Amino acid sequence: MTTFQAPKGTYDLLPPDSATYLAVREAIAAPLRNSGYGYIETPGFEDVELFARGVGESTDIVTKEMYAFETKGGDRLALRPEGTASVLRAALEANLHKAGNLPVKLWYSGSYYRYERPQKGRYRHFSQVGAEAIGAEDPALDAELIILADQAYRSLGLRNFRILLNSLGDKECRPVYRAALQDFLRGLDLDEDTLRRAEINPLRVLDDKREAVQRQLADAPLLRDHLCDACKAYHEEVRELITAAGVAFEDDPKLVRGLDYYTRTTFEFVHGGLGSQSAVGGGGRYDGLSEMIGGPALPSVGWALGVDRTVLALQAERVTLDIPAATSVYAVPLGEEARRVLFGVVTELRRAGVAADFSFGGKGLKGAMKNANRSGARFALVAGERDLAEGTAQLKDMESGEQVPVALDAVVSTLRARLA
Ligand code: HAM
Repeated sequence: MTTFQAPKGTYDLLPPDSATYLAVREAIAAPLRNSGYGYIETPGFEDVELFARGVGESTDIVTKEMYAFETKGGDRLALRPEGTASVLRAALEANLHKAGNLPVKLWYSGSYYRYERPQKGRYRHFSQVGAEAIGAEDPALDAELIILADQAYRSLGLRNFRILLNSLGDKECRPVYRAALQDFLRGLDLDEDTLRRAEINPLRVLDDKREAVQRQLADAPLLRDHLCDACKAYHEEVRELITAAGVAFEDDPKLVRGLDYYTRTTFEFVHGGLGSQSAVGGGGRYDGLSEMIGGPALPSVGWALGVDRTVLALQAERVTLDIPAATSVYAVPLGEEARRVLFGVVTELRRAGVAADFSFGGKGLKGAMKNANRSGARFALVAGERDLAEGTAQLKDMESGEQVPVALDAVVSTLRARLA
């Protein structure tokens, strides 16, 4: 018989490590929930055109990395490579922007798919928690999002991350800069592919990782020197608000993102312990995206933090999260009658909100106690025939080893009190 493995570039989340992933998702979501963001969930796939138009026809994500397919019904769909286009599509479709309460603030958590060359920190299936604030042009909103991401990372105990900040200008100043950059690039000694990229998407060339290319880019014109007055003032205000909040950042005039919808504020959270895939999160403003996908003008801003890479960052900093044991009480029945009675007690405990588990499969005392230990439970509840005859069970404190008999009808109240 053939056995199966997780597809290339993917991995399974298994206990106990999976608890860390859940905790990371929770920690990223908590500041958002606390700041007026409502939860949104969209399908795992969308019309392929949504991403082509939204993320950009010439991006790596759309040209190389999208899982696009045709359904039996002839629809052209793609597994979502990112969340922003989907969230905006959903908000527009439901007319959330017409409810009169702008910005519409949404957060999400889910799986994303990119057909990338797998390596540490780069997977074909990965997980993001993201936030989008739709329909307001206000530097305080950009600042809010950066501050909340910083708060999320700090709450996890991360310290060795940096925030890179840039402005990509708007539809006034970007085209002027683009032309200037193109002029500059045409004079360089670049291979054919790169020259072609310079014609279609010159900003992307700034992001070329090759040493030989970077050396030639040392004197490239910077967008910073081409920003129009409105973009300059906007960016300055974002910088001031973040600074006032005590969040450290670095200006990175060469920061370009892998998606085409960005305007003005762009930022990336990078971590030193991750090797080449150093971006743990990123985002920015996308004032033109709504119109690009057929909606009205809705200036917006958002970010997505990668859960996989955040977990790697925790490992790199040797931060272990304080995750409470899932089970508080572990019941160990000795014999048939005890099995029935203790199973009933476990059900009662659970209904009373106490996390309880049970030794299944008729194990002997030794094996069952081993499992009780492994479960991390604070208490074991052991009962055999003699205990039942007396209407009791033995309550063992797994930390101190101390053991006391407890009347069966007092088990729930006793445990609730001792666990409180
Ligand atoms: P992104 O920079 O493409 O932005 O992805 C955000 C984060 O997702 C990355 O920083 C990284 O942590 C994680 N990520 C991306 N690709 C992979 C991969 N192949 N394997 C593991 N992790 C990965 C966006 O997706 C934008 N939608 C963010 C945004 C929201 N901009 C505005 N609103």
